[in-house]
Amino acid sequence: MSVNKETKRITTHTLQRMKMNGEKISMLTAYDYSFAKIFDSSGIDIILVGDSASNVMAGHETTLPITLDQMIYHASSVVRGVSRCLIVVDLPFGSYQGNSKEALYSTVRIMKETGAHAVKLEGGEEILESVKRIISSGIPVMGHLGLTPQSIYKFGTYTVRAKEEAEAEKLKRDARLLEEAGCFAVVLEKIPAALAKEVSQSLSIPTIGIGAGKYCDGQVLVMHDMLGINTEFKPRFLRQYLKLHDTISNAVQQYIRDVKSQDFPNEQEQY
Ligand code: KIV
Repeated sequence: MSVNKETKRITTHTLQRMKMNGEKISMLTAYDYSFAKIFDSSGIDIILVGDSASNVMAGHETTLPITLDQMIYHASSVVRGVSRCLIVVDLPFGSYQGNSKEALYSTVRIMKETGAHAVKLEGGEEILESVKRIISSGIPVMGHLGLTPQSIYKFGTYTVRAKEEAEAEKLKRDARLLEEAGCFAVVLEKIPAALAKEVSQSLSIPTIGIGAGKYCDGQVLVMHDMLGINTEFKPRFLRQYLKLHDTISNAVQQYIRDVKSQDFPNEQEQY
């Protein structure tokens, strides 16, 4: 799909209509101008400037180290590449958990300094006051339940969440609270497909799944995982659409050979 001037922008209302019409929502992460431009012109519905930038862009083991300033840098680069899709930005760890005033301050910085359209926060009841305060300021909020990577040291592992009844019940309650607070969508990460189905059917707002099965209203993947730039990360839920690591590596090796053999640059490639 190519995007022209008449192409309508995706808004939170578009996503709501898609859920009502049974049209699945596509979301991918992106962190820079060039990839955002490709994804947007390919017709993606939502770009998430995820705090997974901490892993795939900066090489950290967890999402915890990335800062608000770094998220703003990534998000403003993405915004410059996009003319159609909705852009959601993760509030990084430490920028909203303190209190709702701090959460609003961080969100306002993101909205003013990047031009993005919405923010995403991890958690349910614990962060509800912040969610409400942000939404009451006119800023759309996406929730995130299940495996919430900013809490990795509390969980201890990246395994499937909410397999036990107590955690599943809390997740269902949190999803309801986020909807009542006015969130426009909720990410469900790494939970059983049956639970994701129940939550998706019980909410009127869209659910976006990652490792949460086919019954979610949309799907999200981290771009480095789905394009095969990451070779080490191969969880069961991931479908790799390319093996970009190998493609790039082969190209780089060919370039090195060409330089060493003085094949590059040739007569036509110089002034
Ligand atoms: O940061 C991220 O990439 C995310 C997705 C995994 C949903 O939050």
